[in-house]
Amino acid sequence: MSIEIKYISSRETIDLRYLVLRQGRPRSTSHMEGDDSKSTKHIGAFMGSRCVGILSLFLSRTNKLKSHSQYQLRGMAVEPQFHGQDIGRKLVLFSECELKKMNVEMLWCNAREIAVGFYKKLNFEIISDQFHIPEVGPHVLMYKRLS
Ligand SMILES: CC(C)(COP(=O)(O)OP(=O)(O)OC[C@H]1O[C@@H](n2cnc3c(N)ncnc32)[C@H](O)[C@@H]1OP(=O)(O)O)[C@@H](O)C(=O)NCCC(=O)NCCS
Repeated sequence: MSIEIKYISSRETIDLRYLVLRQGRPRSTSHMEGDDSKSTKHIGAFMGSRCVGILSLFLSRTNKLKSHSQYQLRGMAVEPQFHGQDIGRKLVLFSECELKKMNVEMLWCNAREIAVGFYKKLNFEIISDQFHIPEVGPHVLMYKRLS
């Protein structure tokens, strides 16, 4: 079945965030500060009516990058049984197109160590030493120039 990528509400991200990213922790941790800000974008991948992948884009800057025009990618999650089917890639590429239309120069994320290979495939580069996020584990900061 083909995959449709489209904008979704913050509420629609919660089930998959919880299933993929917050297992073993309270469901309330699936909410992120700024989820309902006007500048925040939530994007979903759909197989028919079923949401099988999500990500969120937050207007947020890291001082590791010089550009003033930055968005942060957060809550990147694909339902486990659909991993390896290009859904994550489609979500990121759709996001890049949308951010370019908004003249955003840099997309960055705190990448879990286990996902670094995924972001590298999408041409993100590492720009920090490894750091630890409590209850989640080792991360590195990665970014991609969009323009
Ligand atoms: C990371 C994740 C979003 C990738 O989504 P996906 O739909 O399985 O990835 P895709 O099928 O689009 O993969 C795109 C490419 O990245 C590679 N890839 C995917 N996940 C990878 C990983 N964890 N490590 C290394 N490479 C990976 C794929 O093999 C593919 O490579 P190809 O171009 O050679 O075919 C998904 O595995 C996931 O939800 N993981 C758990 C949550 C998580 O870690 N989120 C990121 C938090 S920072």
